Amino acid sequence: MSTKQILALLNSHIDGDEDQLLSIALQIAAQEARQGRAEDADKLKRLVQKARDQRRTGSPAGGQTPIPLARPRGELQGLVESAYPKVTLSSMVLSDDLAKRLERIVRQQQERVTLREHGQTPTTHMLLVGPPGTGKTMTASALAGELRLPLFTVRLEALFSRFFGETAGKMRLLFDQIAQTRGVYLLDEFDAIGARRGDPNDVGEIRRVLNSVLAFMEEPNSTDSLVLAATNHVEILDEALARRFDEVIEYTLPDTVSARAIIERRLGKFKFAAKEWGALENALGGLSQGELVRAADAVVKDAILEGASKVSPKALRDALENRQTLRGKFRRQSSR
Ligand SMILES: Nc1ncnc2c1ncn2[C@@H]1O[C@H](COP(=O)(O)OP(=O)(O)O)[C@@H](O)[C@H]1O
Ligand SMILES: [Mg+2]
Repeated sequence: MSTKQILALLNSHIDGDEDQLLSIALQIAAQEARQGRAEDADKLKRLVQKARDQRRTGSPAGGQTPIPLARPRGELQGLVESAYPKVTLSSMVLSDDLAKRLERIVRQQQERVTLREHGQTPTTHMLLVGPPGTGKTMTASALAGELRLPLFTVRLEALFSRFFGETAGKMRLLFDQIAQTRGVYLLDEFDAIGARRGDPNDVGEIRRVLNSVLAFMEEPNSTDSLVLAATNHVEILDEALARRFDEVIEYTLPDTVSARAIIERRLGKFKFAAKEWGALENALGGLSQGELVRAADAVVKDAILEGASKVSPKALRDALENRQTLRGKFRRQSSR
């Protein structure tokens, strides 16, 4: 391979021009073949093919691939956040029951062709319910990660407040994208639909949105996009709406065993001896998965900067109690 070719490769990489990069790689392959190095030529060609396949199926090539936001790019920009999560279900601490349910959903998606051959469709609409920090968003990421699909997140409350009067139209654009671009769609703050009923500023907008969502839920989903609606407040959700979901998954605060597992994973090589846990159990109660992770991260950072090889159980206890105090204050203020 000549310096010229290396320069050309680097230039196309810098320009983000993947087509150019791959076509140079193919030229090099041809050259290798002419010079009698069939094996190298073959390897190159196979890699180029792999890169092209990945791009077509929309899975990440080095995390750099532009996300295939279909037609409504312009109008949905700023409303839909997109990502290619690398998280998988195995990075979550889940009850056996929940793990099984989520694995089944992944399996159905992976084998959707087989299901369709038998006149069945994979589960696509799920309602995730539970207090903040208990893993709803992480589940959406992990499902996207398992399926190598992009994760598109829309916060409905934000949508309502920014586009009041046009929300129904925006939702329609979103539903079009769901039908066109296969992905995992997280409709976060889903209770916004229920919560705004009775809003004095409402001129039928909420009803229009609700009806458009109800209609959408009934439409056949030909792309097999996964639609996950998440809410902290199931009580204000419209019952007709809740009933349309294939699955309703409840998230709860972790029990002591899961809480400890979450922290130990987070502590990694900084974790302390198992016998120290006895004194910590009562500091775990009432904290969400998210709060436990934050407490663990805080003490790991201290340990790193102090050059310690282990986190001290006392430091963790303090961090957990700190979180408990914060939680108490917050609850008194918001009291809902
Ligand atoms: N089951 C879990 N296993 C491991 N970590 C978790 C789990 N659930 C939540 N977490 C941690 O808590 C954080 C907050 O969770 P998140 O999914 O954002 O909560 P929610 O969307 O329900 O408010 C996550 O980023 C993750 O670090
Ligand atoms: Mg969330």
